[in-house]
Amino acid sequence: MSRSTPPALEGERAPKRQKLGHLTHDSFKNGVFLAPMVRSGALPTRLTALKHGASLVWGPEIVDKAILHTERVVDPHTGVVSYHGKTRAIFTTHPIEKPYLIYQIGSASPELAVQAAKSVVRDVSGIDLNCGCPKPFSTHSGMGAALLTNPDLLCAILTALRRELPPEITVSAKIRLLPTQEETKKLVERIIRTGVSALTVHCRTRNMRQREAALVNRLREIVEFVQGLGVDIAIIENGDCKGWEDARRVKRLTGASSVMIATAAEANPTCFSSTPLMDIETTLIPSYLRLSRYLNNHWALTKFCVSQFKAPRTERSKTEAHRFKTHIVAAKEYDGLTELVGEWTGEKDFADIVSAIEARRPRPLTVDAMPTDPDALEEARLTSTPPVRPNPEPPTSCAPLGPSTRSRMPLPAVITGSDAITPSPTPKAVSPFSVSRRS
Ligand SMILES: Cc1cc2nc3c(=O)[nH]c(=O)nc-3n(C[C@H](O)[C@H](O)[C@H](O)COP(=O)(O)O)c2cc1C
Repeated sequence: MSRSTPPALEGERAPKRQKLGHLTHDSFKNGVFLAPMVRSGALPTRLTALKHGASLVWGPEIVDKAILHTERVVDPHTGVVSYHGKTRAIFTTHPIEKPYLIYQIGSASPELAVQAAKSVVRDVSGIDLNCGCPKPFSTHSGMGAALLTNPDLLCAILTALRRELPPEITVSAKIRLLPTQEETKKLVERIIRTGVSALTVHCRTRNMRQREAALVNRLREIVEFVQGLGVDIAIIENGDCKGWEDARRVKRLTGASSVMIATAAEANPTCFSSTPLMDIETTLIPSYLRLSRYLNNHWALTKFCVSQFKAPRTERSKTEAHRFKTHIVAAKEYDGLTELVGEWTGEKDFADIVSAIEARRPRPLTVDAMPTDPDALEEARLTSTPPVRPNPEPPTSCAPLGPSTRSRMPLPAVITGSDAITPSPTPKAVSPFSVSRRS
C-alpha cells in the first residue's frame, strides 16, 4: 500500500502519522472503494465511508464543462472547498478527504477533460473517466457508455489526461462489460496501454438495468487476461458487493485487485466496516445530520441521502424507525430535526471523522488463493440478488454556496497543514439544479 495515511483497522491505535504522499498504482490494490454516485456520493457520505474503512472514495461524475468557469471558494471555518457555478456549487470537497479522493469526469473531449481535471487537481488525488453511464443525456453527447463503442476517443481522453496531469495525480477509468468477453478484453487492453493506474469494471453491460444481477463471474477471465499481459494495473470489480466481508467473496471469485461498492454504500455508508452500523436511526443518522449541517451540505441533498439509508435493526421497532424517517421527510430544513438529533454538535462529529481518518492504518483486502475447482467457484458465486430499488433519479447534486454562519471549531492541524485556507467571497444564492447519472 503506497498511501502514506492508509486505512485503519477499527479499534486499533494509529501509528505515528506520516507525511502525506500521493496515490500510485498500488493504492488501487487490495482496497474496498466507495463508487461514484451522483447525489448519493455527497461529501458527508464520502467522509462517513472513509471513517468506516473505505480505502478510497470516488466523487460523483461531473461533466467537464460544468466545472470550467466555476469559482473555488474555501469556507474559512470548516475548510470545505466549493466550486461555485452560476447558481450552485458544482463540486464540494474537504482537504481531509483529498488523499483518498478520486474525481470523476464525464467527457467526450480530450481537451475539455484535461481542462476540467486541471481545474480541480489541487483538491483531489486522482481523476477518473466515466465510460459507463448509459443514460441518453450522457451518451447522446458521446460521453459515458458511448465511449465504450468509441475506443479511439476513450483512449485519446485517457492518454491526454495522463500526459497533461502531474505524475502524482492518478488517471483511471470506469467501464461496463461489453456484450462479449472478446470485445471486453480488446477494450481493456487498449485502456490499460494508455498508462492508467486502475480500471474499474462495472459488471453489467450497457443495456442491463441496475436491478439485474451483475455478471460478476465474467470478470475473472478479464483479470487473468490483464495479468497475462504483464501490466501492473489494478482491476477493480464493481457490481453487487454488499460490504467489507462480501468484498472478500467478490475478490476471491473474480481475482480482482479491489472492489467498489455503490448501492450498498448508498444504503449504509458504514458498510466498509467489518461491523457496519445497525439501528442507523440512532447510530448513523443523527450524527450524519449534524455533520451535514456543520459542513453546510444543502438540506435537500442531505435529506435525499438519508432517505436512501437502510440497515438491519436489532433494537428499534419498525414503527419507531418509520416514525423517525417520516419526521425527516417532513422537515423543511435542519432546524426541524432538533428533536431527533439533540444538540447540533456537528463540530464534534466532524472532529471524530478527522481523528478516524488520521488514525487510519492498512487494512488490505486479502483473501485466500482464488479457488479453481468448479464447486468452490460456485460457492463463491452464490449470493442473494440485491433487492429491487427505485432509480433515485437524483434531482440535485448541489451543495450550498458560501460558508455557513453557524459557530465553528478551529480547523484541525491536518487540514490547515494540507491546504491554504483562503477567505471566501460573499456567498451567492442557492439554486438546486438537477443532474442525474447512472453508470
Ligand atoms: C445513485 C447512484 C448514482 C450513480 N452515479 C454514478 C456516477 O456519477 N458515475 C458512475 O460512474 N457511476 C454512477 N453510478 C453507478 C455506480 O457507480 C455503480 O457502477 C453501479 O451502481 C453498480 O454498483 P453496485 O452494484 O454496487 O450498485 C451510480 C449509481 C447510483 C446507485
